[in-house]
Amino acid sequence: MTIIAVTSEGQTEPRTAVSPETVKKFKALGCQVRVESGAGQRSRFSDETLAAAGAEIMKTAAETLAGADILLKVRRPSPDEVKALKPGAMVAAMISPHDDRAGLDALAATGANLFSMELMPRITRAQSMDVLSSQANLAGYKAVIDAAAMFEQAMPMMMTAAGTVPAARVFIMGAGVAGLQAIATARRLGAIVTATDVRPASKEQVASLGGKFIAVEDDEFKQAQTAAGYAKPMSAEYQKKQAELVANHIKTQDIVITTALIPGRPAPRLITAAMVDSMKSGAVIVDLAAERGGNCELTQPDKVVEHKGVTIAGPLNLAGEIPVNASSLYAKNLLAFLDTMFDKKTKAFAINWDDDIIKGTLVAKGGAVIHPSLSQPATAPAAPAAANGAVKGA
Ligand code: NAI
Repeated sequence: MTIIAVTSEGQTEPRTAVSPETVKKFKALGCQVRVESGAGQRSRFSDETLAAAGAEIMKTAAETLAGADILLKVRRPSPDEVKALKPGAMVAAMISPHDDRAGLDALAATGANLFSMELMPRITRAQSMDVLSSQANLAGYKAVIDAAAMFEQAMPMMMTAAGTVPAARVFIMGAGVAGLQAIATARRLGAIVTATDVRPASKEQVASLGGKFIAVEDDEFKQAQTAAGYAKPMSAEYQKKQAELVANHIKTQDIVITTALIPGRPAPRLITAAMVDSMKSGAVIVDLAAERGGNCELTQPDKVVEHKGVTIAGPLNLAGEIPVNASSLYAKNLLAFLDTMFDKKTKAFAINWDDDIIKGTLVAKGGAVIHPSLSQPATAPAAPAAANGAVKGA
């Protein structure tokens, strides 16, 4: 019988890799699911609820891990946790593969088959396994809710006998998964929404959600999307034109939500200190790119700061602030991924090494990091600086 282990996450991570629903489904696939006591607590999945779904609640992490075939985590586990598993066990987590290369090598050295859920290919078959989408969608929603709470004015226009309250102006920078949900949420609250992106495909999506699209639409813009659906780093010339456009627009905005990212690189710098200076007192910026250095020059990761009357928040784990939904969706992503590895008749578990979703997400095997995008070893000299910051792990 395949044994799946789920241990508690660190102090700063409220999410968990399992839900009562996925426990039931894993049981149906013929697995034993061991969960460390309390692992689901912060997502409101009590030990009792998980046990009722069929999980075995273990008192300690050591008991949970001992000899297990598969470890499911939200964040990168420690080498010690992985060493406690069966030799050559499978680990699936959001391991942030471009960060802390030495730590990644140490984890690879355990000999586990290490899968990074963030590297899931963006193909139709893998949509239900796409953790970046499931979590970014929630983060985009929460960013607007938090911004509305910090903004000392109303969001919708209100015509009252005592006078008219104007609608808030909300500007979304980066109209990917998080940005599109931010547009939808801000629109539901009655704001006037504009959005920008460098990918032409986003133009129509912004409009379909009732937002007004503004961008530098030159030849470079027309080719800014990679085959994988992500943005390319833009040239210095494009960045200059974009900065002029943003500088003019941002002055009139009440709330700015930034979500712009380029995989494996520092976040593009889109809002300078001078642009913040030009904003209205009472305006709010929520920078979802804080973890990758921030889209705003004044963002401080994990802090809310005020600069000349403008509040700037740099949250690091917004999806984790709605852990009930975030854990449920993340656990479903993991279930959909693992489901492909079980023989439905014999209930045998086997990894099909030729499958694109396996090849795309497999970071380490046989004791070493093997993913093509991570070919640079820990000892290699640092990559040269790019126009908008140092290139990391690209
Ligand atoms: P992301 O998190 O990597 O980036 C967020 C947004 O920032 C992107 O829309 C990107 O174009 C934008 N951005 C990057 N540099 C910028 C700059 N200098 N200025 C302004 N904006 C900038 O991207 P995300 O949200 O993970 O996905 C991007 C797109 O991928 C989605 O909108 C969607 O079209 C596609 N996608 C496809 C899936 C599938 O086919 N299974 C699943 C999920 C997303």
